[in-house]
Amino acid sequence: MKIGIDKIAFHVPNYYLDMTDLALARGVDPNKFHIGLGQDQMAMLPFTQDIITLGACAAEKILTDEDKNKIDMVIVGTESSNDFSKSAAVIIHHLLNIQPYARSFEIKQACYSGTVALQQARDYIAAHPDRKVLVIAADIAKYGLNSGGEPTQGCGAVAMLVSSQPKILALNNDSVFYSEDVYDFWRPSGHDYPLVDGHLSNEIYIDSFLKVWEENKKVNKKNSQDYAALTFHLPYTKMGRKALRGLYPTISEEEAKRLEQKYDEAITYSRRVGNLYTGSLYLGLISLLENSSLTAGDQVGLFSYGSGSVSEFFSAEVMPGFENHLVKKEHSALLDKRTQLSIPEYEEMFSKKIPTDGKQYLFDDKSHFAIRGIDHDIRIYNN
Ligand code: COA
Repeated sequence: MKIGIDKIAFHVPNYYLDMTDLALARGVDPNKFHIGLGQDQMAMLPFTQDIITLGACAAEKILTDEDKNKIDMVIVGTESSNDFSKSAAVIIHHLLNIQPYARSFEIKQACYSGTVALQQARDYIAAHPDRKVLVIAADIAKYGLNSGGEPTQGCGAVAMLVSSQPKILALNNDSVFYSEDVYDFWRPSGHDYPLVDGHLSNEIYIDSFLKVWEENKKVNKKNSQDYAALTFHLPYTKMGRKALRGLYPTISEEEAKRLEQKYDEAITYSRRVGNLYTGSLYLGLISLLENSSLTAGDQVGLFSYGSGSVSEFFSAEVMPGFENHLVKKEHSALLDKRTQLSIPEYEEMFSKKIPTDGKQYLFDDKSHFAIRGIDHDIRIYNN
């Protein structure tokens, strides 16, 4: 039985910042951001939207009423939740009108949690092949104004419907994992922004990739020729490229060229969105599926990394006719119709927050699943 991604879509907010503007405002050569980090634009979220808005909007693009009746689990992978107790999944389950006898929960391990959610979905469907699982990987990457991580911010959500009749990708049961207790990026309670040792996180990321790659070679007896493409967690698009280049001493020049071309196809959306934390790997996957020339039976390798740290390498098989089930046009329209922010607008949007004094407020964001108000610290969403 094949189990995997039946449908997949992303959502990003309607605003972005151009990285040249950010570079000039911070007194940095724009090439550092465009070439050195590989980022052209950065998605920005108004305070009237959150991961629930993003996740519900992404899922809404792919779910039919029939899907909603068959979904047994809603899993949200995130590190940007606004509640330490109630999960975003329960609210998304409600907003999307999914059948009530479902399990809804949220999981966390930095940028790795979306992958855990996907693999849990796979395991559940193996035991319940006639049901479906909705997986959402949603985050708001915020490091702070004028911080070292500022150019690697962004936000968005990816929604995936997992079933035993996957129309897009079948997940192979071949994961290899690696855990290492390290403080490269963490956000203790009470901190609005993460604490981060950026250069250490780069090193651990690359080192972890090479470790799971070697483990994959050992356990699954596979090498680079077995993959039509390799996709990576993309905190910024240069990061995965640095890890990929870590393989070059062990593969031919021709092979390196082939993989680098696929890598470029997998980062087109991320260059325009920035960091989705746990959704980044899957935004890269969508970019590859929608902008590359894959054929049925192709194997795609996926490297997932979450600081702290946990990594996983696994693979998926491209399904026949997958291209007919993508929502490429909606994705292009979403990216193209966004409003560009000036630096003062960006800084204002960045700093504005939902009030937390328990009083009642109404807001003026009419967009789908946006927060239209708050009362007694309960966010009220448009639907
Ligand atoms: N033109 C072209 N490239 C330039 C440049 C210029 N004018 N100036 C600098 N660069 C290149 C550097 O050579 C470097 O490339 P390399 O990594 O291939 O060597 C790249 O731009 C980044 O420069 P660096 O000096 O390392 O940037 P930084 O000290 O500002 O740190 C991060 C970059 C990513 C570490 C920082 O943004 C950060 O901490 N981000 C958050 C953490 C994160 O994203 N971690 C990723 C793993 S999860």
